[in-house]
Parts: sequence; C-alpha cells; structure tokens
Amino acid sequence: MALYSCRLLTFAFLGWLLVKLATAEFGEHSCFFAGALEPTQGGVEILIFFYADTRHTNTFFSSDIKKPGTGAGTRPTILSAEAVYCKALRPNFECFLGYDAAPMKVLGLETSCDETGVAVFDPDRGLLAQALHSQIDLHKVYGGVVPEIASRDHIRRLLPLIRKVLRDAGMERPDAVAYTAGPGLVGALMVGSGLANGLGLAWSCPVIPIHHMEGHLLAPMLEEDAPVYPFLALLVSGGHTLLVAVKGLGLYDVLGSTLDDAVGEAFDKTAKLLGLDYPGGPALAVLAENGDPQAYAFPRPMLKRPGLDFSFSGLKTAVMLQVKKSAEEGNTDRVRADIAASFQCAAIDTLVTRSIQAAKQTNLDRIVVAGGVGANLHLREQLAERFDGRVYYPRPEFCTDNGAMIAIAGALRLSDGSEPATIHATARWPLETLIPPGSANPA
Ligand code: KG4
Ligand code: ZN
Repeated sequence: MALYSCRLLTFAFLGWLLVKLATAEFGEHSCFFAGALEPTQGGVEILIFFYADTRHTNTFFSSDIKKPGTGAGTRPTILSAEAVYCKALRPNFECFLGYDAAPMKVLGLETSCDETGVAVFDPDRGLLAQALHSQIDLHKVYGGVVPEIASRDHIRRLLPLIRKVLRDAGMERPDAVAYTAGPGLVGALMVGSGLANGLGLAWSCPVIPIHHMEGHLLAPMLEEDAPVYPFLALLVSGGHTLLVAVKGLGLYDVLGSTLDDAVGEAFDKTAKLLGLDYPGGPALAVLAENGDPQAYAFPRPMLKRPGLDFSFSGLKTAVMLQVKKSAEEGNTDRVRADIAASFQCAAIDTLVTRSIQAAKQTNLDRIVVAGGVGANLHLREQLAERFDGRVYYPRPEFCTDNGAMIAIAGALRLSDGSEPATIHATARWPLETLIPPGSANPA
C-alpha cells in the first residue's frame, strides 16, 4: 500500500500489476509504488484501488485492472474493481449505501498513532472480539513515535488483525466498518481510512468515520455499569488534555484544553529526562511509587487563573531544572523516584482540581475519565478522594488506544442513523465541531 503526497491513496497488494500500472500511468510518480510493494513481501490477496481526492490531475486507472493476476503461489482477488474504477473518475468520491437502523455488528479500526486496534462490537451482545498490536518496540529506539514507521506497520498489521478478529467473533464480515478518521498522524490515519473504505466497498456496507477522542470518551460505554448522559469527560492522552461537557452523542462543549503540552506528553517527556523508556507515562508512574510526592514543590500551572485550561510546559521546565541540578550534585539516581512522584503529584493535582472546578461550574455529578493517562492509579485515587460524584473509567486496556472504542462509537452513531461514508483522514479535528448522528457529516 502507498500513501501518495497528492492525496491519492492506493492499496497495493499485487506486485506485477502495480509495476505495470506504474510505468503506464504514473510516469515520474511511479516511484511511490516501490513503497507500496515493500510491505507485501510477495504475498498478495486483495487489490483495492480508490481515489481520495480528485484534484490531482495525473491519475486515472486503466480498466484492465479488473483482470486478476496470478503471481507465483498467490491467487489474488480484485474486489469490486470495476465499481472502484468508476468511482475513481468521480470527483469527491462518496459511496452512498442503503442500510436500515437494525442493530449492526460493527468492525472498528484504530490506526491514529502507534497502536493497531481492531474489534467487533454487537449492540445486542456487546464486544465480540478485539485485538491490538502495539508498535512500542519499533519506536522505542527513537524515543518517540516515528510517523513513517507507524504508517508502514499499520499496513502490515491491519489485515491480519481484521481476519483474526472476524474469526474470533465467528463471522465472515461485519454489517458496518468504523475507523478513526482523526485527529492523529495523517499517514497512519490514511491506512485505517483507506482500508475501511475499501472494505466498505467490497462488502457493500456502511463506513463510519470516527473522531478518536469521541472514541475515548465513549469507551466506558463498553462496561456493564456505563455512564448516562450528561457527564463531564476528562480526556487525557498523549496528544490531548480536554475537559468536555457531554450532553449527548455528538453534543460536546469543550470547557478547557491544554495551551501547550498534553498531560501524557508531559509524562513522556519527564520520563525521558529521568532516563525511562518510551512511552514513559506508565514507567514514571511505577518509579513514582517509591518516591516522596512532597519532596519537590513543582508548580501547578494555571490553577490560580480563571477558566478551565491547562498548561504543562512550566511544570516540565521545573522538572528539567531539578534533574539538571541533581545531576550536577551527583545524586540523580537517589532522587529520581522523588522527582517522578513530585511531578506526578503536581500533574494529577492539576487535572483533579480543574475537573472538580468544571463539574461544579456545569453542575455535573458524573465524570468520565478516558485516554491513556486515565490508567494512572494516582489520578484514580485522587478523584475518588476529592470528587463527590461518580467517576467512570473504561477497563485499563481500553484507556489507551484500541479498536473497541471505535467499534462502539461506530455502533452508537449507526443506530441513530449514519451519514454516507466519505474518506476522511484529518490530522487536526476539534472535538467540538462534531454533531449528533443524522446531521450533516462533520469532517
Ligand atoms: O490514549 P493513548 O493510548 O494515546 C493517545 O491517543 O495519545 O495515550 C497514551 C499516553 C502516553 O503519553 C502514555 O505515557 C500515557 O498515555 N499513559 C500514562 C499511563 N499509561 C499511559 N500516563 C500516566 N500514567 C499511566 N499509568
Ligand atoms: Zn488515544
């Protein structure tokens, strides 16, 4: 598969055919097929072409692509190639697919960052199956996520994971496909978006673009004791720190967000300063268990200011200066745990104080905590101690990125009647621009 810079999206699982097309139709741009063929490693089963943005002029597909090739040892299938070919010639490709509002089993695909998540959710029976592949080992050596490596690994993992999840769920195909359309790394998003829309065409089923943070805030709905609307959502991940008044599905008032680093990012950067591996959040939390949270009075930025926004860069700088000072004094090892505990205490205090302020301001007595930092035990303890109302969490594996939250978000949006699928991959996508299902498509 290749992601083309002019927004042409091509799935390539068929070596010889693509090479032929490359020279015939793509001229100087044929080099992008080299990238497309690399992950296939000769094993080809499906070829899906479609066009994501027809503003690019240098492209059309020859209709002879509908003749499947039979490379050595493979019997490739070309799914709906003719239909795809026709669609490819239409500007602003959209597929309009009829379906009724009966409960449908939804396949959810999450590829916004460094986790490939796949799951099937059935509104009648709950979560039927799910699988996750984490890319942590691939990125660890670079100390953070490398977008190109992330996209390529999603390409490698997504189809095998889909097969496994469908097998585990005891089904050949779902009734609908939901995928993370943003925000996130655009290349990684294009993998999920492209495959979801390709499968939607092949299976003639609805395809539902999902906002990643909406997935996170709906994740507690996967649990038996699910929250009811309205509630306050504290969304805390590697890319976001948001306080949202959730009045209903798609009815989101963003009350506060971070002015600089996300809280997960602050955990990761602090962990790096302390010599911990990426992603540092969980490792820092473990190190903090043996430290004194009162050892250093790190700042609680913004708390004295009105409003409900966050800022974590000042805290990060304070930790950096302390680490430097400790290193100069030659006692870093001894105080690492104290620094970790004091940082965690300051960051969590900020989150909890702001959440309680927001709950009071909106008169909400339920808080949903979601996103990777929601797995932090100190955060859970502090909220339990200081907040009068109820707090809801997804189970720990659904705090971090996963396919189940995308599948349930898809099912919830579908059961209220969804819009026709359109290919989406949106790197930046404010949550408050979402609207309830049944209204015009938001992205
Ligand atoms: O939601 P998520 O899996 O991915 C994003 O959408 O960003 O969140 C990942 C973030 C990382 O920054 C990670 O360090 C942080 O969540 N994280 C934690 C903990 N577990 C994950 N931070 C603090 N304490 C934890 N236990
Ligand atoms: Zn996330």
